[in-house]
Amino acid sequence: MSADFDVVDLIRAKRDGRSLPLAAVDWLVDAYTHGRVADEQMSAYLMAVVWRGMSPPELDRWTAAMIASGERLDLAGVGRPTVDKHSTGGVGDKVSLVLVPLVAACGVAVPQLSGRGLGHTGGTLDKMESIPGWRADLPVERMRRQLAEVGAVICAAGAGLAPADRRLYALRDVTGTVESIPLIASSIMSKKIAEGTSALVLDVKVGSGAFMTSLDDARELARTMVGLGAAAGVRTEAVLTRMDHPLGRTAGNALEVAEAVDTLRGGGPRDLVEVTVALARVMIQLAGAGRAVGAGGAPAAPDAGGPRAVRDPAEVLAAGDAYPVWREMVAAQGGDPDAVLPRATHIETVPAPASGYLAHLDARAVGIAAWRLGAGRARKEDAVSATAGVRWRAGIGDRVTAGEPLLEMHTDDPTTLGRALAALAGAVTVTPQPPPPTPLVGDHIRA
Ligand code: URA
Repeated sequence: MSADFDVVDLIRAKRDGRSLPLAAVDWLVDAYTHGRVADEQMSAYLMAVVWRGMSPPELDRWTAAMIASGERLDLAGVGRPTVDKHSTGGVGDKVSLVLVPLVAACGVAVPQLSGRGLGHTGGTLDKMESIPGWRADLPVERMRRQLAEVGAVICAAGAGLAPADRRLYALRDVTGTVESIPLIASSIMSKKIAEGTSALVLDVKVGSGAFMTSLDDARELARTMVGLGAAAGVRTEAVLTRMDHPLGRTAGNALEVAEAVDTLRGGGPRDLVEVTVALARVMIQLAGAGRAVGAGGAPAAPDAGGPRAVRDPAEVLAAGDAYPVWREMVAAQGGDPDAVLPRATHIETVPAPASGYLAHLDARAVGIAAWRLGAGRARKEDAVSATAGVRWRAGIGDRVTAGEPLLEMHTDDPTTLGRALAALAGAVTVTPQPPPPTPLVGDHIRA
């Protein structure tokens, strides 16, 4: 592509609140991806976007240019409907580990191309890599075969998928330009559209442990992403879910895998089951693999689109019928589903500060503590610990007793404990009365 535009003019235009000509958007994304626009110039442009935003046509074009920067997978040959889910990121969010085999067990193939964690939110690949032998990297052909045979894949997005986002995301991460609705929406949707799924459910987290702490921002992000999906021909629906408290009872890689397995075998914490089942129902409907699966759990009619009969996901999960799919999925990627998961050498407990009911456990504080114990990374190239993390022995609304252990800190490196404990200062609230129940699953946003 020829250098038809002067990047400094484009930066000035955006700085002054003007929209770019659409051809300039194509040029800018292509020139940056190929090193013809420097990091400092793109940093200035991104900061101008943080302040000035993008017009809807600019955003559509920016996203399309990011998709066009790499390959777009074709999953048409998989032989059953495909649907993926993306979460905007939370603490203790092991939903994908349960959801992918669950939806596959309901007859819909799930191609989940995931990322690694950065900062206080964990990454699905980091969690899966705590299973001995499991490999995240799959050639596209093997991914397609596994989708056709097992119906479930969790793997790393190849370098050829939306490479513009890879460069832009790394730059945004170090220039304070992550928090922008058009930049987040285009980053997420370019990867998901390029991956070739025919339908997509977005779990947009809102609350203290999420990127979006206000409901209005979360709704706007959801509407923006749903619009981008619809424009690209991907049936997309967003579900807003609360992330004020961490999900389940654990945050940390192997700890979360163990909890996911427990849930797949028919147990698991109530909040994790609630969010997973709500998302599974939307995924199955969007994939067109059966009529609506009722919240009451009435089995839906088997559909010609999927080879397996469609049952209500709540029933499938409770019966442990997604667990065999998990085992197949793990084994297909070299993992041993029977292997004992690694355990930390040091476990220190933190007592409940008072007797009463656990009313609040701050998601961000727990995420930061798990990260400091070694579960997360500060830079993309850092290694993560499989064993580090936090477990809380009571859920929100449960009774706790002063002085009894409430939190467990797991680590192989006891020198991390002091800073992890500091992150948890003030994170726990115990009240004399039980807290009012708050719904976890909120609005559904469709095109
Ligand atoms: N996740 C992404 O993939 N991109 C963002 O910009 C934010 C979260």
